[in-house]
Amino acid sequence: MADSASHAAARAEALRRSIEHHNHRYYVLDDPEIADAEYDRLMDELASLEAEHPELISVHSPTQRVGSRPLEGFEPSQHDRPMLSLANAFSREDVVEFDRRLRRNLAVDALTYVGEPKLDGLSINLRYEQGRLVEAATRGDGEVGEQITANARTIRSVPLILLTDNPPQRVEVRGEVVIRRRDFEALNRQRLARDQRPFANPRNAAAGSLRQLDPRITAARPLTLFVFGIGASSEALAEDHLGILRVLGDWGFRVNQRVERVEGADGLLDYHDRLVAERDDLDYEIDGAVYKVNDIAAWSELGTTARAPRWALAHKLPAREATTVVESILPSVGRTGVITPVAALQDVNVGGVTVGRATLHNLDEVHRKDVREGDTVMVRRAGDVIPEVVSVVTSKRPPGAEAWSMPAHCPVCGSEVVRLDDEAAHRCMGGLFCPAQRVGALMHFVSRRAMDIDGLGEKLVRQLVETERVRTAADLYQLSCSDLLGLERMGEKSAGNLLRSIEASKQTTLARFLFALGISQVGEVTARVLARELGSLNAVMNADEEALVALPDIGPVVAQSITRFFEQTTNRQVIEGLLSAGVTWDDPTGRQENATDDAGRTLEGLTFVLTGTLENLTRDEARAAIEARGGKVTGSVSGRTNYLVAGSDPGSKRDKAETLGVPVLDEDGFQAMLG
Ligand code: IVH
Repeated sequence: MADSASHAAARAEALRRSIEHHNHRYYVLDDPEIADAEYDRLMDELASLEAEHPELISVHSPTQRVGSRPLEGFEPSQHDRPMLSLANAFSREDVVEFDRRLRRNLAVDALTYVGEPKLDGLSINLRYEQGRLVEAATRGDGEVGEQITANARTIRSVPLILLTDNPPQRVEVRGEVVIRRRDFEALNRQRLARDQRPFANPRNAAAGSLRQLDPRITAARPLTLFVFGIGASSEALAEDHLGILRVLGDWGFRVNQRVERVEGADGLLDYHDRLVAERDDLDYEIDGAVYKVNDIAAWSELGTTARAPRWALAHKLPAREATTVVESILPSVGRTGVITPVAALQDVNVGGVTVGRATLHNLDEVHRKDVREGDTVMVRRAGDVIPEVVSVVTSKRPPGAEAWSMPAHCPVCGSEVVRLDDEAAHRCMGGLFCPAQRVGALMHFVSRRAMDIDGLGEKLVRQLVETERVRTAADLYQLSCSDLLGLERMGEKSAGNLLRSIEASKQTTLARFLFALGISQVGEVTARVLARELGSLNAVMNADEEALVALPDIGPVVAQSITRFFEQTTNRQVIEGLLSAGVTWDDPTGRQENATDDAGRTLEGLTFVLTGTLENLTRDEARAAIEARGGKVTGSVSGRTNYLVAGSDPGSKRDKAETLGVPVLDEDGFQAMLG
């Protein structure tokens, strides 16, 4: 009996070490050695062993990372050695002066430093006794923190048992708990999906997660620990700081990969500049560079002030957040008609750049963040992206500030503003008329699959709009040679060609015409359905939502978008102008449109799936060629698929077709089938 118990104890210990080892490979080194299933098997074996021998269960077991109950409150925890802060440098001169002062005090000519990223998270103190985690605490006032041991145990990059055979009797390990950017984004997406308030930034999320009374909540948050040093230790671990970090790495902690040995003030400044340049590519938020003298003997010589050691310095990076006041919230109309609420701000300097506007994305965001005119807000500028409003300082809200609402009419053209049922965005419905949408609408109108006007590129369209020669698509048909000759790089020959091309586009098809109008949600396929099923422009313009949803492949959102578009008098006026300029079509379905249609409906009743890249056709063209012959194109391979057309890099659809016995055509085979 005693024998079997001691056997179980030895096995449990071996399993724990093995699990900690694989945990380290997975969570710290991002380089697992075994499959997840194998890891689960080890955990299962340990769990059943502990179930059989409850006396073996201890808090140091990996099975206990997530189990404990909520606390009433946090106990205080006295650090063995105070957790100091860092002196700050805001300029290059501060850094040069730091190096000069240290060299003078130590009476040396040159100093070797360690450069580290200053992670923007929450510092933590972990106490290990005989290599086992016995207590974890927040920094608190530096002397006494809050004990958060159960929470720290849930963080997978915190070793419960150090990966060494001769740990010091007692040691404090210190580091920063953060949430990495990709984990943060996933966390916020998940919270939004559950109707929970998203966190403003990774730091707040990390802080909120670590100080939870219920460790099960902490366990569900993607916290990561990066260590940057030690506190008190019963034994000296190394002679220099890099040596300490190496030991911590060996024990199973994650040490930042961007830690570097650097020489002198020049080395420090160079390190800083490289860190600034890399900032946007890092997977975690940083707010500075930390410089530490490498030689530990120098630490005691230099000593500390009341607040911070004299041998270290934090060189601040430009802040990317700042607070300012929202003067007004303006609906801004984009070139596709989407209306974005934009906060007009009192100018504020954010990391060296003056910011006067910040996007609020859409109405839901305005309401979720509850941003109102007059509010003091936190704005954030990261990399090249448009500055955004992160959160509101509600305590500073002026009395009487009212919730913002989207205007009912477009601020640019006065057309109706509509939010289609399944969209986050509001849109101006005056697509053909709205000045904000002119260039976008015209580019679409003249494109090859729409009215197919050759020779009208974006530069030219911009010039026509900016010189007010063209306001709507109908004006294109009023252009004269002298109108065009005044434009940049426009000679008589190209003007003549363009006018001929415009003239030729007048003879079109109803389907192309409907597509060219640029109605939101109406692509080529829908335009063709409308033309074929309703037969005339009048019928399309006058169809109500009920009639539209009765048509094949048209859902309520598309129907709503179509009716709203034609309800705008301004849009109707532009259509009127196009028709009186002579735009016309004979056959509503556009069968006379090109030779392929003459080939007849040779693919009637056949369903195709397209995958991979074709050499001579785009996806759209392949789809159009199939549909022109009466065939159908769907997105995924099923038992009802007749052919899979596979270009290069076909991916999983090809495998699926083969499993289901669906014939696969290569590009040549497909061309042969088209004839
Ligand atoms: S060393 C005695 N190194 O910054 C030295 N701190 O402003 C104390 N921090 O409380 C800290 N990254 O939370 C050090 N690489 C790093 C750091 C770092 C982030 C935080 C830490 C500390 C605060 C001091």
